[in-house]
Amino acid sequence: MEEKKDILILAIESSCDETAAAVVKNGREVLSNVISSQIALHTVYGGVVPEIASRKHIEKINEVIQEALDQAHVQLSQMDAIGVTYGPGLVGALLVGVAEAKAISYATGIPLVGVHHIEGHISANYIECRELEPPFVCLVVSGGHTHLVVVKDYGKYEIIGKTRDDAAGEAFDKVARAIGLGYPGGPKIDRLAKEGNPDAIHFPRAKVEDAPYDFSFSGVKSAVLNYLNGCHMKGETVVEADVAASFQKAVCDVLVEHAIQAAKDYGMSKLALAGGVASNSALRQAMKDACEKEHISFYYPSPILCTDNAAMIGAAAYYEYIQGVRSGLDLNAVPGLRLGER
Ligand code: KG4
Ligand code: ZN
Repeated sequence: MEEKKDILILAIESSCDETAAAVVKNGREVLSNVISSQIALHTVYGGVVPEIASRKHIEKINEVIQEALDQAHVQLSQMDAIGVTYGPGLVGALLVGVAEAKAISYATGIPLVGVHHIEGHISANYIECRELEPPFVCLVVSGGHTHLVVVKDYGKYEIIGKTRDDAAGEAFDKVARAIGLGYPGGPKIDRLAKEGNPDAIHFPRAKVEDAPYDFSFSGVKSAVLNYLNGCHMKGETVVEADVAASFQKAVCDVLVEHAIQAAKDYGMSKLALAGGVASNSALRQAMKDACEKEHISFYYPSPILCTDNAAMIGAAAYYEYIQGVRSGLDLNAVPGLRLGER
């Protein structure tokens, strides 16, 4: 019998403030995963400055790709495809990765596969959990997105719920800024909350009428800001760790409740987490406990695969590639690209 040939993918990700490249074998084995983070550059501004992000991507991208090939001990000519994030994200940032991937594809003849950033986040689970196969429910929680997705098959998604206002990560970042923790706030709240009492302050858990899987985080964010203002006006000292822990619990309660409900309603025995907020320790623990109680298998990527990286793009590109998806040299950055759209 003829031995099955390994498929090698060079993946590129530049949708926000991480310039990343990776080499992934057969969709699930990471040979290299290089991430050049710009966080330090944006911290002084309290958030990502798109213009700075694009410029830095241009400066770093060639170096990052070479590093990914070197660490994987492979040559560019061995690649079966180039996978690249083409949306959603910051248009100028996306364009750098897309233009680079197209140039490599044009110069070498290696096929190009455009990847949806959220599909990448979901696919990070395939790397971490080799046995995971669709169908499953995935809660995607990042700085820009909060989606409840039914993954019907590879590349086949149904979004059953999303946020009506702030994304979960955005709420973490804004609350962190309000309590003076700085950017990016998620990991800082996660750390501080460990020293606080999650039941010290009751913050609201919003429900969206007639949309059981939708989310709204602007209310809890405002409640924290009001609480902090109230304390300052009354001259009361704020116990930041209690605020962080109570806010985090309010957000996690809603995320867990919605995700478990969706898994039950859709008859799914598997639930996965994805996106930057998926590395939140309280969320992982709460989701793990709830899944155990409901006899649902729980999957989550390690923190390095939760936040933006190119390995997850390589995993997603692989499943698109083997299904015959190819992008032309007219591939463009699509900042508002919807999941499941081409
Ligand atoms: O997926 P990601 O790297 O970028 C987007 O696609 O948006 O997610 C970044 C977001 C930020 O809002 C960051 O504060 C949040 O993920 N985040 C966390 C944690 N680590 C990162 N939020 C809560 N707890 C964490 N440990
Ligand atoms: Zn992301």
